[in-house]
This record gives sequence, structure tokens and C-alpha cells, in this order.
Amino acid sequence: MKTSLTWLGHGAWQLDTAGKRVQIDPFLTGNPAAAIAADAVTADFILVSHGHGDHVGDTVAIAKRTGATVISNFEITEWLTRQGVAKVHPMNTGGAHNFPFGNLKLTIAQHTSMLPDGANGGNPCGFLIRLADGRKIYHAADTGLFLDMQLIGEEGIDVAILPIGDNYTMGPDDSIRAVKLIQPIRVIPTHFGTWDVIAQDARAWAARVKSETSAEPVVLKPGEKLEM
Ligand code: NI
Ligand code: MN
Repeated sequence: MKTSLTWLGHGAWQLDTAGKRVQIDPFLTGNPAAAIAADAVTADFILVSHGHGDHVGDTVAIAKRTGATVISNFEITEWLTRQGVAKVHPMNTGGAHNFPFGNLKLTIAQHTSMLPDGANGGNPCGFLIRLADGRKIYHAADTGLFLDMQLIGEEGIDVAILPIGDNYTMGPDDSIRAVKLIQPIRVIPTHFGTWDVIAQDARAWAARVKSETSAEPVVLKPGEKLEM
């Protein structure tokens, strides 16, 4: 089965697997690191981790144009419905469901989640995706370090996507501690470099992953993909 993970810049990712295209937190308009324009994006599903503008991003426009189903927490799917999104699938922390692209479980994330208009965005989440071939992707989304990452790691993670930008999320030091808790085979950094306040040296981070953990670091530039 062909699966790829493409970094679209900031916290936006595209997962292609099982013949389906999944957009994660498609913040492209106004994203200085965006690798693609929002109106060029195609999607079968859109996952939204929390309510902040740099994650909800272009979700409403892309969902309306493509007819994609948006998966998020209950509060965000209610809000999206009020914005005119036709197809939503509400979930909540700890719950899993089988979708055509694989099994998706919402994990906890230590963050906040207010929507751009001030509406309640429920609780932020990360994504644990079990592909059709059994391999697992853990996309932590925006979060600080938390000890329960060890529980997520017990599931056996093939690829972890972790924020390293600091300021709004974990920085490099805590992301190394996260890798030790999760013990993924490969780890990709995200949520850095978009703005000066989250600028990081990804090469230095990768060198630390190599020397301090058992994981293989994969550093992408916006627009680049990991073929799994
Ligand atoms: Ni956020
Ligand atoms: Mn963010």
C-alpha cells in the first residue's frame, strides 16, 4: 500500500493512503510557509486538531469546495456546521473510528482550543492513525510534553510528527523527551519556522534525535513528503 505524508508548512499535513487524501489542519491562506494555495488543495477528509486559526485555517473553504468530510471534536464540528460545512464527523478524546483511510483515534494534547470568532473549541487533540496495513502514525498537533505520551508509544508508533517550535508548543528539548516516551521508528518535526517566534534549527534537532534517542529523524521542507 502506498502511503505518503506531505508537509504543507506550519502544522498542515497531507496524508495520502488507501487511495484517500486526508488534509490535517489546512492553514494555508496567510501561512508564510504554505507549500500550496488553499484553492489547489484536494481532500476526501479533513482533520482539525483544535480551534486556533493556524489549524482551522482554510478548512471551511476547502470542505465546501471539495465536499470533504471534516473530522474533529464535537464543539468544532458543531461550529463548522454553522459555517455551512455539509459533512462532519464529531469525535472526542480517546474515541476511535474506522474511516476509509484507516482507524483514527483522538489523543489528548496539552494546549487550548478557542475558535477564531471566540466560540468554544472544545478540547485540543492529537491524532493516532492506524493505516490499513497496520502501521501507525501519531500526529501530536499543538501540545506541550505530557507523560501519557508513553501510553501512546505503547501502541507501537511507526512515524511520529511532533512540534518543535517552542513558545506555543513543545520546543526542541521537550520534543526529545517526547521521542523517548513515544519511541517511534521515525520522527518528523513540525510547527516551526513559520514565524521568527518559532524559528528552530531542525538539523541540530535531528542530530540530537540521532544521538539521544533510538528514532530516525526525518526533516522535511514545506512541500516535501515522506514515502512510507
Ligand atoms: Ni494552537
Ligand atoms: Mn498552532
